[in-house]
Formats: sequence, C-alpha cells, structure tokens
Amino acid sequence: STKEMTYRPAFHFAPPQNWTNDPNGLVFYNDQYHIFYQYNPEGDTWGHMSWGHATSKDMMKWEHQPVALQDYPNGNGTSTMFFSGTAVVDKNNTSGFGKKDGEIPLVAIYTAHIDSSGTGISQSQSLAYSLDGKQFTRYDKNPLIDLHTRDFRDPKVFWQEQSKQWIMIVAKPLDFKVQLYASPDLKSWSLLSEFGDKFGDKSKIWECPDIFELPVENEPGTTKWVITVSGGHPQQNGNLGMQYFIGNFDGKTFTPDILQYPLYLDYGKDFYAGIIFNNLPDNDKRKIMIGWENSWEYAATTPSKGFRGQMSVPRELSIYKNENSEYRIKSFPVREVTSYRGQLLATQNSVAVTGSKLLNSISGSMLDIEFIIKKSSAEQAGIKLLKHGENQTLVYYNKIDNTLKIDRTKSGNVGFGPKFPSIESVPMPDTNDDIAIRILVDRNNIEVFANGGKQVMTDLVFPLSEKVSYELFSTEVATTFKNINIWEMKTSME
Ligand code: FRU
Repeated sequence: STKEMTYRPAFHFAPPQNWTNDPNGLVFYNDQYHIFYQYNPEGDTWGHMSWGHATSKDMMKWEHQPVALQDYPNGNGTSTMFFSGTAVVDKNNTSGFGKKDGEIPLVAIYTAHIDSSGTGISQSQSLAYSLDGKQFTRYDKNPLIDLHTRDFRDPKVFWQEQSKQWIMIVAKPLDFKVQLYASPDLKSWSLLSEFGDKFGDKSKIWECPDIFELPVENEPGTTKWVITVSGGHPQQNGNLGMQYFIGNFDGKTFTPDILQYPLYLDYGKDFYAGIIFNNLPDNDKRKIMIGWENSWEYAATTPSKGFRGQMSVPRELSIYKNENSEYRIKSFPVREVTSYRGQLLATQNSVAVTGSKLLNSISGSMLDIEFIIKKSSAEQAGIKLLKHGENQTLVYYNKIDNTLKIDRTKSGNVGFGPKFPSIESVPMPDTNDDIAIRILVDRNNIEVFANGGKQVMTDLVFPLSEKVSYELFSTEVATTFKNINIWEMKTSME
C-alpha cells in the first residue's frame, strides 16, 4: 500500500525531468502557446540555467520540446547561463531577423549571466531569435544593454501601440528598482525612466518585473497600468511573493496611484516569478499570468521524485474597484482549466455542518472544488483536504481575525525545510457577505481563489498517501455551505 509518491502534478506544467524555476518567454506564436522556463538540463537542483521549452494549444496540455537555449562555455574559463526573460513576436520584422517575405521572428530577450570565476559575475540583457519557434540563433552583437554590474536582470518586453515602440522593463534587484527602456528594433535600447525604491515591499530584492495595461472591470472607460515584481511576501519573515503597483504609464514614466502599498497578488508561499503572456489571440485582451509554484526558501529540498519545480495554472488578471473605491487586482484560473473538469462527484445546494462532515463521494487528489461559506458565529469554517489519518490541509475562514487561511502544518511531509510547515492568511473585506471559494487540488499543490480571485493563496503540499478523504467543518456552531460542486480533474500533462 505504500506506493512511492512522486508528487508530479497532473494538470499543472512541470518539466519532464530535472529542475525548473521561473516561467520565461510566455508567448503565443504560430498558433500555439509557448512556455519557456528556467531549466537545469543536468539535474534536479538549480544550475546550468537554460531555457526549457514546451508548446500547447490551450495552456494546459503541454508538449515538451527540446531545450531552446542551453548554457555554454565561453572558451576562456567562463560560461554563460540563460537567466529569466521574455519572448516577443516581431510581426513587422522591426528587427530585420526575418529574411524571407512574411517571415515573422520570435525574439527571446534574456539575461546573460556570465560567471567568470575570479573576476565575478556580470548580468546583461541579450537576444536570440527563432524563425520556427524551436531553434534559436544568438544575436552576434550581444549584449543589448550592459550596465557592467552584477545584479541587473529579468527583462520583459512588449510592443506599445500608442508610442509605436518596444518597451522593456528590467530589474535592478538590489536597488529595489525597475528600469524602463524603449527600442524601435529590439536591438538598440534607450533608458526611459526608473521606478521603485521609495515604494512598496523592500523586505527582499526585486526580480522578474512585468508591466501591462488593463481595463477596470466595474468602471467602464477606465484603464490602468500595472507593474508586478517578485520579492517579499505579505507574511514576511523571509518568505517570498509578488507585489504590484497600479498607476499610469505615458510611454515614458510609470506614475503609481496613491494607494496603501505594498499590495500582493497571492498570499500563499508558493507563487513567484509570475509573468504574463505576450501576443495572445483576440488582440491580446486577456492578461494571463503563470507563476513558479515554489519558494527559494525550500525549493532545493522539496521531496518530489524525478523532477523538481512546477508552474501555477494560468490565471487571468483583472482590475476592479473595491468597496473602498480603491483599485485592486484579482486573478482567477483561465476558462481553459474548466475544460479539464471530469465527472461531477458532488453537488448540493445547501448543507449545515457542525463539527466535521465527510464528503463521502469524494476521493482522489485531483479536484476542482466550489462552495460558498455563509458566515456564522463559528470561529473556523471550511474544508479539510487530502485527509489521511492525522494528516490534512485546511482551508478555512477564520472569524477571529477576519482572514481566509491555508494550514499545511500537518499536510504530510513537512520536514524538509524549516519555513515549509506554515499557516497562510489573506485578509477578507470587512463585510457580512458570503465567501465564494474555489480550490484546485492537484496532488502536491493547492490553489485557493476566494470571491472570484480577489483573495488568492497558493501552497505546495506533500501528502503521505493517495488514499485521501475530504470533510467540511465548522467549529462550535453550525455553518451553512451553499452551492457545493466538486469535479474530478482530468490529467492534462503526461
Ligand atoms: C528568480 C530568479 C531570477 C533569475 C532566475 C535565475 O527566481 O532569481 O531573478 O533570472 O531566477 O534562475
């Protein structure tokens, strides 16, 4: 009965073997979604950073491709690694890399991380292009931008229609800053402005920035610009997460709205280095982010077998005005996730629970769970997931401090890193409203989206068995759970 747990997710992207961290170069090109990712071709810990590659028709079922950009020796004792970056579709061939008529280059812009044992590390922004979406050629005049510094990385590029130029955002991690550059041809870049330093979370260095524009969902006619960066976490204590800024970008300068910063995208411990896709169908209207589901605090020792590291499901971002008239971001699984729902295992309009109630038709560890919590005077009300003996992961509303929580302190194997056993909390709005919950469970990870994605938490878990059960619970007094729907999820990855 003790089948070895590999902890390979079934509908989340993971590399066929070996190590991954950040998603890179998310782009739609030649009728396919492409994911590139920080990859170690030689092992299951960080090293030899290269860009792995996979393609998909729906962002869920990925076909693995050969490594796109592989680390290489420079011949003088130094080597170059491919750190995180972006991929753009150069439709108008501004770069001139397209040679034949109508040939559209896919241009990857990455950080060249050069380790010269002795003289130290340098990071600069460089380029490689592809004419078939598979094989890349490095530009012979790299680097594009070199500040002759060690920490300068993670370029993200997009085409800005208004100013008719390419815009790059790139991090100066140790300065808690991002820089914005512009280019007519992806090759020559000029500095536009800098942002940061005075604003936001500075408990950790800033990495993997992104910038994009979104309409405000409940304020027709308004659009806002957003900058996201990876760095400190809302429950600090050395943890990692992603913060964001909302404001305006005039083609030169990003001006943040006066809001209570820092603001965070996800309150779990395992959502980092997220970037959005470029060039999506439908005029790039959807802004879809994939993040790395892991934390540098314990990524090297997670107990998965045969691979290490994986991505979140794709999440669509939107902006809304909250009950205090402040702009906020929400993020929710893309509709493509719903296509992988299998059998509806449970459906119930309403049930009052005092203590615990076993969901007897539910087993297995790939589920899409929806329900509504009607607030009661119970101190805690929610669901026990992946329950096996004493082990379980809790997701619940905590009345005392008005938060939604994930408790993974008893989730199974928690002993591989001191920061792993933890309870995450996301503050809830100060209203009496019901709480709509959606939870994706996929073997080794849990993604919680409350109220359509206004509150989000992502956590890895390593249960000790596949024989698991599920229970609703409410402490002291009864809580009513409404609109319960639980689907089995199908496998999208081999
Ligand atoms: C973020 C990061 C990036 C860097 C990459 C290296 O997780 O540190 O800043 O480009 O990982 O693998």
